[in-house]
Amino acid sequence: MDNYGLTCHLGLYGIISKCCKLKLPPKIRKRDESLLFLKQLVKNPKSLGALVPSSIVLADFMCRHIDLTKNPRIIEIGAGTGRFTQALLKNGLPPENLCVVELDPIMFEFLQKNFPNICIIKGNANQLPELLPEAWNNADVIVSGIPMVNLSFQDQQQIIQACFKSLSPSGSFLQFTYGPLSPLPARKLGLRQKRLGHVLLNLPPATVWRYWQPLSHETRQKRSPINRLKHQGLHQLKRLKKTILKGSTSHEKN
Ligand SMILES: C[S@@+](CC[C@H](N)C(=O)[O-])C[C@H]1O[C@@H](n2cnc3c(N)ncnc32)[C@H](O)[C@@H]1O
Repeated sequence: MDNYGLTCHLGLYGIISKCCKLKLPPKIRKRDESLLFLKQLVKNPKSLGALVPSSIVLADFMCRHIDLTKNPRIIEIGAGTGRFTQALLKNGLPPENLCVVELDPIMFEFLQKNFPNICIIKGNANQLPELLPEAWNNADVIVSGIPMVNLSFQDQQQIIQACFKSLSPSGSFLQFTYGPLSPLPARKLGLRQKRLGHVLLNLPPATVWRYWQPLSHETRQKRSPINRLKHQGLHQLKRLKKTILKGSTSHEKN
């Protein structure tokens, strides 16, 4: 995109923000944030993959698709200036339940300065299990801001494999994209996918996808409603047998 296009995009972003009264947390100064994003974009456009940080509307949309009432443990990869970080905390996620991974050293410093209470790690998400503290195995959700569509299949595969190693078997991976199609080749990666919805108030408008691993045959069997009923029935039968046996022994004593 040329300079004119870039200026138009940023101008439009400002207008949308003003119209929707989008407010940034008081701690993060919008000018600092935009300047930093732009500077890093010029240095590394492929890794940034966006002209401006995600809108607060998109960040809130992501949060609405995570059950925060269950206090999930969430890993955020590609946090940038922390739009999703801020939204997750604002929507009630306890700081100790959030761990953030960012590749860019300058973005990493920005995050450390603005979010002193959370675990922030500098590194590549394709090495997630090695980067995370041990207690962070089996997380519930990964929220990704990494521009997956800019990566080769091999790079996508490395990141996805690392992420699913760090998630619990029922964990899920949320990713936004600007295109109409899924940003990841789910079937080729052995994943299931669902489009969660579109967010028009973002520049450019975005779509959010959820990915998860199909459960193993064993886990599916355990969770199937028939097996659960069988299990409950067996449990009740055992209790009945115990009561009958108790009854007959007390009868014999009498
Ligand atoms: C489009 S920005 C998204 C920032 C923020 N999540 C948002 O939506 O505003 C992408 C971020 O992902 C980071 N990133 C790219 N590849 C990465 C990787 N392999 N591991 C960790 N972070 C990565 C970039 O440095 C950048 O900060």
